[in-house]
Amino acid sequence: MVVQVDLELLARDAGKAVGRGDMIIVIDALRSGTSILNALTNGARAAVPALTLKEAYKLRSQHPEYLLAGERGGHKPTGFDFGNSPLEFTPERVEGKTLVITTTSGTAALARSQTAKRVLVGAFLNAWAVAEKAEKIAATEAIGVSFVLAGEKGKFSLEDFLCAGAIAKGFVADSVHFSDKVQATLLAFKQAEVDLTASVMKAEHAEHLVKLGFKEDVYFSCRLNALQIVPIYVGGKITLHQ
Ligand code: MLT
Repeated sequence: MVVQVDLELLARDAGKAVGRGDMIIVIDALRSGTSILNALTNGARAAVPALTLKEAYKLRSQHPEYLLAGERGGHKPTGFDFGNSPLEFTPERVEGKTLVITTTSGTAALARSQTAKRVLVGAFLNAWAVAEKAEKIAATEAIGVSFVLAGEKGKFSLEDFLCAGAIAKGFVADSVHFSDKVQATLLAFKQAEVDLTASVMKAEHAEHLVKLGFKEDVYFSCRLNALQIVPIYVGGKITLHQ
């Protein structure tokens, strides 16, 4: 069985991937996907995406033990425990905790994808791990795979496109069929991986994060294949368990 792998360049088109019946890999490499991965790898029980600040505050009032994480304009919102810097999610702070996370673009892409048959979270950190898992599930369930790029404020973003290429590279080539958009990510990634950090630094959002003082976050987010975990979004929560 050949697995079809496709891509939606804009988060607002996630519905097309849902309509195809595909499994979705949501990509927000800078920074929410990387933050979720680091929180879970450091022992967080779950991450609960919230679309709005209001929804996040409400979830906390219903579950006072939940911690709030995320950003608006790159910065930690009032009353939040964490911003959206992956480096904040240390074992000391997240072990055993459930985090509510709301960010400008990443959690919006998750929300738009949540009705898909399966939703996985992909980043540079777990590129090959997510490819391997997606390919296995898609072959077993006879469904396609689509990347949905979170982008930035509804627009295309270079870093998420390159990250799709990093993940696509992890698929076993003769058992998949890549759409032209996915082929383009592979070609771009081939060039970018020569110096991944320098390539990602060319992205507008990376430049913006550097201006805000978050250069270390960009470096951290470019640690290709550093983690073997694959977060799954199901029943309103992202966890490492199905
Ligand atoms: C987002 O979801 O818009 C990003 O993660 C923004 C950020 O880098 O904080």
